[in-house]
Amino acid sequence: MTGRIALKSCRLPPTFDRLTVMQTESGDRTERWRESYSRVRKDFLANPQSTNLKRLRLLGVDRLPRTARLLDVGAGDGNLCRTLSEMGFSQVWGLEYQAELLALHPQRERVVAASAIHLPYRTGSMSAVIVMDVLHHLTPAQLPCCYAEIRRVLKDGAALYLCEPAGTFFRKALTVLLMSPLSSVSTFARDKRAMVAAERDTLAPWLASERAVADRIVSHGFRLEFFRRCWLHSYGRLRAV
Ligand SMILES: C[S@@+](CC[C@H](N)C(=O)[O-])C[C@H]1O[C@@H](n2cnc3c(N)ncnc32)[C@H](O)[C@@H]1O
Repeated sequence: MTGRIALKSCRLPPTFDRLTVMQTESGDRTERWRESYSRVRKDFLANPQSTNLKRLRLLGVDRLPRTARLLDVGAGDGNLCRTLSEMGFSQVWGLEYQAELLALHPQRERVVAASAIHLPYRTGSMSAVIVMDVLHHLTPAQLPCCYAEIRRVLKDGAALYLCEPAGTFFRKALTVLLMSPLSSVSTFARDKRAMVAAERDTLAPWLASERAVADRIVSHGFRLEFFRRCWLHSYGRLRAV
């Protein structure tokens, strides 16, 4: 609101004003998403570490040397970093663009405020990149920049490990259910619905085209090692070539 008043007094062109209003709306949406996400994490995922551990094992991250330099893109509150540290990894770096989540990170000195489309790391400096539940927050225009940046920071022969919502029938059905009035029955479902609603601009196109994601990443200088769809998530490992 304050931003809009300031803009009016500057007499900026109407298109600029509209753009700012859109940004304000998406800022509100991010805040609503963060509130629901934090509640879901706190109240319902009391032990995210065991989920993380299962996912990391499925991807093969547990087979990496414990001194490998790992980059956690979209690190959130740092729960993945906690799991990796418990697994014995000593070089876990991260980036996250929401300051409020960044502040909760257990290794604040290892994580920077940055966007997944501009990774503030040297070319070929990482032994692995882990992206967990982040790509579906990016717009179709941002995704190629993110893939190219991940390839740039990875050493040749190093791997990208992915876990993202899968565009399966089960996931789509669940999303429809969440958006229906039925979902008001529990706080958990209400929060999940708020998250899906806040992510809708990027989640819907992601789910619609997720089957082709591996091919798109491959075109940025990767070899596909595997891409597996489960009920709700897909898991992929791609090697930088
Ligand atoms: C569902 S959370 C997952 C967090 C963490 N990876 C995990 O598995 O717990 C998605 C995270 O991606 C972050 N994110 C979304 N778009 C981003 C971007 N363009 N750059 C950096 N982080 C982003 C969000 O702020 C959020 O913390």
